[in-house]
Amino acid sequence: MYQRVHLADDIYYVGVNDRKTHLFENQYPIERGIAYNSYLIKDEKVALLDTVERQFIDEFLDQVEEILEGKPIDYLIINHMEPDHSGAIRAVVQRYPDITLAGNKKTFPILDNYYKTSDKRLVINEGDVLDLGKHKLNFYTIPMVHWPEAMVSYESTEKILFSADAFGSFGTLDGGIFDDETNLDLYEEDMMRYFTNIVGKYCPHTKKALNKLGALEIKMIASLHGPIWRSHLDYILDRYKKWSSYETEKGVVIVYGSMYGNTEKMADVIARQLAVRGIRNIKVYDASRTHNSYIISDLFKYKGFIVGSCAYNNEMFPAVENLVTKIKHMGVKDHLLGIFGSYTWNGGGVKNLNKFADEINWEMINESVEEQGSLKSKKLQECINLANAMADRLEEIYG
Ligand code: FEO
Repeated sequence: MYQRVHLADDIYYVGVNDRKTHLFENQYPIERGIAYNSYLIKDEKVALLDTVERQFIDEFLDQVEEILEGKPIDYLIINHMEPDHSGAIRAVVQRYPDITLAGNKKTFPILDNYYKTSDKRLVINEGDVLDLGKHKLNFYTIPMVHWPEAMVSYESTEKILFSADAFGSFGTLDGGIFDDETNLDLYEEDMMRYFTNIVGKYCPHTKKALNKLGALEIKMIASLHGPIWRSHLDYILDRYKKWSSYETEKGVVIVYGSMYGNTEKMADVIARQLAVRGIRNIKVYDASRTHNSYIISDLFKYKGFIVGSCAYNNEMFPAVENLVTKIKHMGVKDHLLGIFGSYTWNGGGVKNLNKFADEINWEMINESVEEQGSLKSKKLQECINLANAMADRLEEIYG
């Protein structure tokens, strides 16, 4: 038996917690797990909104069956096809063979390429309404938040927005399913890391989606991950507006790749001088130690980015190369950039970071600083100058 969780009288949460997976999408560490949320509307017609990741099929179907007490499901609404939500579609169709799958024109090609289900289908167009009886679902596409077929379903009686990945978070739902049943501080970091890494490449699309949905009267936001928002909608909406606009704070992220500590020493000198200059938000990361998803998250938060690399086989240090490649792919905008590094015989770290600077086209705050071997007085002063240039620019921007 499962405890029933109501969003409204006949609208249920039927999600699951994943505390087994170590890496979401086989790449992002999720120490606090992740929730795959799904929802069931038991009206004259029954609609299931999205499913869960396939390793939770049994738990998911058991919950649904208990609530339905023998009733069939009329519609499976597919707001998003990524397998963390579509993984149980085939099992649902097998259990409820008369079900109609509802998605938009971009949903079904992905469905067919993944699952080859033979089933009844309803192709939804922007603005269509599906009448379930007391409840009516209105559909709006939100392309690239964060796949091309993504859409949201708005239930107009209770004014609930089923928002697909938007407004989601890493982290399981530990007892509290709704935002007012948990301490949101526990989700703050996971929420931002989820947004910046999963949706962050598509900030302009997210902004467009927020504008499109802005006209709706929304009393609850039910995402596919993380808490359901009913008491603190401003909390999550304000954050999404800020993040999707690349709004940053006064602060600096310093990242280095260092084998024997010479480049690391330069990072420490720069960090110290920034602190002397009054900068209070300073994060220093060893690229080999910290997963780049945490660094990307801080990059969305702070305006300054100072990156250092030793030389490695005439190239950048691999962990730094991996990070800056990801930053390029993410299309992060409008940062202040500083570069430093060290080498032993032929260089490669700073040279390739300078190429990154040309490609990313952020504002370079100073000449790059490169030392041969251990840090000596001339380059130590140049590191201090680099930090001063960053502090000057941040003061000009933020005061
Ligand atoms: Fe939670 Fe884009 O899947």
